[in-house]
Order: sequence, then structure tokens, then C-alpha cells
Amino acid sequence: MALYRAHVLICKGTGCTASGSAPVFEAFKTELARRGLDKEVMLVETGCHGMCEMGPIVVVYPEGSFYCQVKPEDIPELVEEHLYKGRILQRLLYTTPDVEKKKIPHYRDIPFYGKQRRIVLRNCGYINPDNIEEYIARDGYQALAKVLLELPPEETLDIVKKSGLRGRGGAGFPAGRKWEFARMAPGDKKYIVCNADEGDPGAFMDRSVLEGDPHSVVEGMLIGAYVIGSDEGYIYCRAEYPLAIKRLNTAIEQATEMGLMGDNIMGTGFSFKLHIKEGAGAFVCGEETALMASIEGKRGMPNPRPPFPANSGLWGKPTNINNVETWANIPQIILNGAEWFSSVGTETSKGTKIFALTGKVNNTGLVEAPMGMTLREVIYDIGGGIPNDKKFKAVQLGGPSGGCLPESMLDTPVDYESINATGAIMGSGGMVVTDEDTCIVDFAKFFLTFVQNESCGKCPFCRIGTKRMLEILERICEGKGKLEDLDLLEDLAQKVKDGSLCALGGTAPNPVQTTIKYFRDEYLAHIVDKKCPAKVCTALIHYTIDPDKCIGCTRCARECPVSAISGEIKKPHLIDQDICIKCGRCMAVCPVKAISVE
Ligand SMILES: Cc1cc2nc3c(=O)[nH]c(=O)nc-3n(C[C@H](O)[C@H](O)[C@H](O)COP(=O)(O)O)c2cc1C
Ligand code: FES
Repeated sequence: MALYRAHVLICKGTGCTASGSAPVFEAFKTELARRGLDKEVMLVETGCHGMCEMGPIVVVYPEGSFYCQVKPEDIPELVEEHLYKGRILQRLLYTTPDVEKKKIPHYRDIPFYGKQRRIVLRNCGYINPDNIEEYIARDGYQALAKVLLELPPEETLDIVKKSGLRGRGGAGFPAGRKWEFARMAPGDKKYIVCNADEGDPGAFMDRSVLEGDPHSVVEGMLIGAYVIGSDEGYIYCRAEYPLAIKRLNTAIEQATEMGLMGDNIMGTGFSFKLHIKEGAGAFVCGEETALMASIEGKRGMPNPRPPFPANSGLWGKPTNINNVETWANIPQIILNGAEWFSSVGTETSKGTKIFALTGKVNNTGLVEAPMGMTLREVIYDIGGGIPNDKKFKAVQLGGPSGGCLPESMLDTPVDYESINATGAIMGSGGMVVTDEDTCIVDFAKFFLTFVQNESCGKCPFCRIGTKRMLEILERICEGKGKLEDLDLLEDLAQKVKDGSLCALGGTAPNPVQTTIKYFRDEYLAHIVDKKCPAKVCTALIHYTIDPDKCIGCTRCARECPVSAISGEIKKPHLIDQDICIKCGRCMAVCPVKAISVE
């Protein structure tokens, strides 16, 4: 391998690609060639760094300078300054969102990364995911070699059990115990499956791992296969993730070429082949029994358990299913040991968890934090707090079937037990932050609409129960709610939870239950006062023009899509409430802030 004095890492994750990292890469190539620097400076395409909204991101090593929102036209100056003259180009550095507006030159000093502990994401944004040699240079496939050459399957299993690793796909079941069930299950043919369905809206942690470090997942699966005695596996990845699928295919090809996959791996007699199954993107297909039905070519609908996949999974054979993040943890656990892993996290939740931090928070993105960090630390220290001096209102944890927690719970540590105790769930790690402008009833309605649409319809509790719940929420948002509706909602929620066939229905009422529990006042405001405190529910708000402030400029009248505003030029205007559709465009354009919403 040739030596280079500098490495320029250009993010080719989905976020940065969308904001234009490909032309940035081309501009670098041209500029480095033009200046004759192409033999000294290596260009590397990487996976996501997690701070996608700042993309396209370019990191220059050895300094680790982190450049944000880089455009092709910036490249001549960036090459001239940084790579030619050795000076950091200040104007493209990350700037803190606070009043200080500090420019931070080094990756490691950016607060977003400072408190993170990157175990699963250690290679994401750092290596070229399409190059197996870069993975190998970062200890890749050493864990596989270690188990195949030194550790019998029972000892390997023991390490995973002792590490305390719990499944990262939602339920947090101990990975080692699950492996043990599949290992003990009788049968010559066994399967290993990676759940890369990632159905939660807003979640992109699994995608980023697959796009940024696919070999870590493949290696984890090989180790799992060795432990349970499997020779064949599937990665179930939704077809909407074409880049992840492409990178996985490349990883499998490269590993096969190097003898790390296929027959007689490393000459040890262990053989394993891996297929990719593209899913059509139904939320329920992430549920493991539905997922297996889908791999088998059937409609993705759940089946009652038992039998559990460990005994009767794919085509009736013992099968072990784990999530992408769970698999990606395995090589590091094998290499560094169970104690190393279990020293991170809390008593019952070991290691780290990746969160997709989104919503009303300054630094949205992917965050890998040690288990046990409080919600406040994640939202304020890593996420940089709430933008525009707004007030924090709630955080929705665990995706569409998660729960909504208020400010008073911000000091809850993020671990399985503490989160479950609140009524929320860890789920796959979705964290949506809301501020005072979010209506909590409308928010709960949004999640319930999602699960209601995604219910496969097999069981009536989930199919009909969620529909009735949704109708009640719609009624409340329209100002037609009654006090009894709250009891009815709570009653229905419990019945849907208890009666549903799979965890889709079993967890679907969580957003409704937690919002009623923690934000009852806001429900009451809708039902009793017929008011939406966040001024979101259109049926409960109206726009008015203050005649003392209005200068009669007519902008609002010209902007109104339904001609609800009348008035003469230079005279106060008036909104006809019967015509107004409450779109708020008048308020947005009024130059003297004469329009308000109540
Ligand atoms: C409706 C529903 C959707 C799910 N979606 C996913 C998913 O997208 N990805 C995932 O890994 N697990 C998902 N799960 C959880 C899986 O059923 C299963 O628990 C997981 O694959 C086990 O892996 P783990 O032990 O490594 O967490 C879902 C569960 C339900 C009920
Ligand atoms: S895609 Fe580039 S930082 Fe996420």
C-alpha cells in the first residue's frame, strides 16, 4: 500500500450524498491532480459520521479537521489552504450553535462527539466501507480468526453471554442466551438472520452501520454461525436502502474472495454462505416471525410464538435472528473481551446504544452513547439543546410504538429497565425531541396513524382497536372530544396491548398511554377548554388581525389562498373566520406582526 501524507475523508453516507458529496469528491480529484498532489494526498469515501445535517462532511487527517457543508466551489481554496499551505480553512469549520459561535477545528473537540462512546460506529466515517483491506487494517476479521483458530464454540458463546450484550432491535433480549437456544436446538441445518428492516420512521442507525461498516455485521454473523452451528444466513434489508445493499454485496464478495466466507473458511472446515433478501418495506416485516415468512416468500405476517425461531424458524429449522447493531457489537466483544464490554453501561444494560436524535434539537444525527447516560445529557450535551430559545416539551423514545416523556423525566438514565419503567421503550433507539410548538395529542395521533396503517390486519385487536383509538384522537383534535374519551382510550389501549398477536399491536398504544399519563392537562385543554395550547389543531385555533398594528399593506390578503382576508389599502384588514382554512400564511408574511393565532 502506498503511503500518503494526508488523507481526505469524504462522507458518502446517504445524507451527505443527498447534499452533494459526489461532486465534492470529483472536485477534490480534479484539484489534487491539477496541483500534482494526487500522489501525496489520498481521497477516501466513507460512511456516515452521524452529523448528516452538516453535510457534505470532509475530514482531513492527520489533523482530524472537520469541515462542514462543503461545496465543490470550496475545494480549490480548501486544497490551497489546508493541503498546500498547511493552514486550516476556518470558514468551513463546525460552528457551535450557541451564542458564542465558536469554530471547532478538530473532530474530537466537537461537543456532539465528545460525550459519545463509539464502539459500533468506530469505523463509520473513518474507513472506506467498500475496501475490505481498510476494515482488516482496523482489526477486521481478527475476531473471526480468533474464534475459528483458538476458541471452541462454547467458549465463544460464553464470552458473548458474559459480556451482557442485549439485542439492539427493540426487546433487549440477551444475545448469548438466544444463541444458546439455537445452539442447543436439535437439527443439522440451522440459519442465522440479520434483521436490517429498520422500519421505525426517522431511524437510520442500522442503515448507517451497513453503509459505513458492512464487514462488522458480516463478521458478527460469521461468529454467530460458528457458535450455533449454522452454514447459511440471510440479511433481511429493506429495498429502500440501495446503498446498504450495494455495500453488503461488495462486502460479501470481498470476504468470499479472501476465503473469509464460503467453504472451509481459513482452512478450518467451517463453511458459511450469506444471502441478502430485499424487503418491500412494511413495518411489520421487522417482527421476526413476519420477517421469516417474508424470506420464505410468503406474505409478511406474524405467527404466534412459541414455537420460537430458535427451535422452528426459517423453513422450520432452528434460526437465530439478531439486529444489525447487535451483530456489529460481536467482533469487538470477542477481540476485547467480555469484561471490557461489560465495563461500559449499567448493571443490567451493557455497552452502548445508537440513537437517532431528531426533531427540535440543535445537533440532530446519530449518537452512540454508553448505556446509562441520562436523557438530558443526550439531548443537551450531545444534541446541543433546543433551537431558537424554545422550551423543551417532550421526547418520544423508541419509535412509533415508544413513549413520550416530559421534562421532569429528563434525568432518567437511558437503559432498558429505567426506560421501561417510565412506560416508554428503548425500541431501536429513535429519539424525537419536541418543543412548545408541538401539540402532544397531535403527536400521539401521528404515531398511532403510522402503526394503524402498518398493522398487517391479522388480529382484530390490532386492526380494529388501533382504528377506534385513532378515531377518538381525531375527535379530540377536532374539538369534539368528551371527558369519557380519556377513559375509553385508556381502556382500549390496555385491551389492544393484551389481545394483539404480535408486538406491533402490543406496543402500539404506548404513545397514547404515555401522553395521557404525562400530558393529561393538554388533553383536557382540548376536551374541556376546546383549546390547543400549542396552537396546532386547526379546528381549535383562529387567526386574527390587530387593527391597531395593521398598516393595510395588503400582503396577507394577496397571500391568502382562499381569499379570506379583506380590507382597503392602508386600512386595517379583517379575516373571515368562516372562509379561513388556518394555513398561517398570512401570519408568516405580515411585515408588522399584526396577525396572531389563538
Ligand atoms: C412490529 C415490529 C417491528 C420490528 N421491526 C424491527 C426492525 O425493523 N429491526 C429490528 O432489528 N427489529 C425489529 N423488531 C424486533 C424483532 O422482532 C426482533 O426482536 C429482533 O430482530 C431481535 O434481534 P435482537 O435480539 O438483536 O434485538 C420489530 C418488532 C416488531 C414487533
Ligand atoms: S451521511 Fe454524511 S454525516 Fe451522515
